[in-house]
Amino acid sequence: MSTELLHNAYNGDLFKKEGDELIALLANHLKETKEGTPSKVTRWIPPAIEYDFWQEYVKEKHSTKDFFKTLLERSIHTHHPKYIGHQIASTVPISALATLFSAQLNNGMTVYEMGQASTAIEKVVIDMFVKNIGYEQGDGFLTSGGTLANLTAMLAARKAIANDDIWNEGHHNKLAIMVSEEAHYCVDRAARIMGLGSDGIIKIPVNDNYAIRTGALEAYYNQALKNGYQVIAIVGSAPSTSTGVYDDLQEISAFAKAKKIWFHVDGAHGGAAIFSSKYKYLLKGIDQADSVIIDGHKMMGTSSITTAVLFKNKVDSYATFEQKAHYLWDKNDDPEWYNLGKRTFECTKSMMSLRFFAIMNAYGTQFFDDNVTVLYDAGREFGTYIEQHPDFELALEPISNIVCFRYTGDLPSETYELVNRKIRQELLEDGEFYIVSTVLKGEFFLRTTFMNPFTNREHMELLLEKIKGIARKIKIKKEKINL
Ligand SMILES: Cc1ncc(COP(=O)(O)O)c(C=O)c1O
Repeated sequence: MSTELLHNAYNGDLFKKEGDELIALLANHLKETKEGTPSKVTRWIPPAIEYDFWQEYVKEKHSTKDFFKTLLERSIHTHHPKYIGHQIASTVPISALATLFSAQLNNGMTVYEMGQASTAIEKVVIDMFVKNIGYEQGDGFLTSGGTLANLTAMLAARKAIANDDIWNEGHHNKLAIMVSEEAHYCVDRAARIMGLGSDGIIKIPVNDNYAIRTGALEAYYNQALKNGYQVIAIVGSAPSTSTGVYDDLQEISAFAKAKKIWFHVDGAHGGAAIFSSKYKYLLKGIDQADSVIIDGHKMMGTSSITTAVLFKNKVDSYATFEQKAHYLWDKNDDPEWYNLGKRTFECTKSMMSLRFFAIMNAYGTQFFDDNVTVLYDAGREFGTYIEQHPDFELALEPISNIVCFRYTGDLPSETYELVNRKIRQELLEDGEFYIVSTVLKGEFFLRTTFMNPFTNREHMELLLEKIKGIARKIKIKKEKINL
């Protein structure tokens, strides 16, 4: 059999040529998007049409350069200052380079010998998190995203608190976790994966400020006991996804201690505020949590996906999975910090520690402080601006970089939802801005998250003007949409 194709695919000179072209393309994209030059953040194309496009594309031969150029044109531009949508970082280029390195080297990371440098680097990264949380005996590891990280932490909670040895014997008793009704859906998903069922997820209502009602914890807990459940954990959101509001971690911690249950903090979005000298006060009490998760690819500028799972007690970070795998490690009773597969869901995992370390190496942890601080400042500035604007209404005063609001103008209140839904759809199809939406206490709101440190007051003003323009057009067509 000819190996010519394989030789071509692994040709170092070709890699350099195509790599140089790709970096040039991305560097130019970065320069232009950072300045907001492209007129669109996204080009809305319905899924079936996009699918047809790529189905046709693959039938013909295209250069790698053409492929990446076409791909770029058809992708959402998260480095554009008018990208104010979902919570995904405007990746710091150095982190993207580290990801490229990881992708090409492909060190597997399950066992130390399959990723020696990246394993040791992971420990350095974890040390940085542990220190900034304020844990004295903490430890942890990195995993593939907040969803998996929350599940990992919930499994650790079950291991530590449940009366039964579920890992070996399966479920005998009914278990439950307590969580805010505003928590990210992945906590609910984790509980269901663990077999807790709908009734094992005790959703605590939020107060007027959308934080978990700590005054209600006792009653919900007692009701769960009455219903025959063992409550194993309570989860605090830092912050919750829809609103950007932080739960009161100190009060939750006191409750968890009193009931001898696990206290977990979902800091996927805003746990990174531990690095911000200005905003770390929002996380008061985080050092009392038994476990914390923090995403790099949200507020820390790393490329996706990489999440730190941190534990107050070192031993807990080893306790979740106890499995023998003789082809990987011999000693199951030895923690072996350097054989990360013992502690993570993943067997093979990417060299995700590099994405943090490259930033630390180039800019120090000051980068994380600056990034969180600038973005939270932007959210609050936008909140103040909206408050002063007679045509708009805030859902709540923003605490972080997540801002929920709606256009009200001179509309009758019963049409708010219809008009704002239309505004969001028109914005998506127009593509100049990218923002999203949410429903809070049954009411529809536009939702923005400031993820790009270069989004400024001018963009905020342009966004509100744009929305007003769309609302005007909707008004003109109002008979047609039956207002
Ligand atoms: C509070 C919170 N937790 C968990 C997640 C899930 O994280 P990931 O997208 O990294 O899986 C998100 C995502 O938005 C989130 O906001």
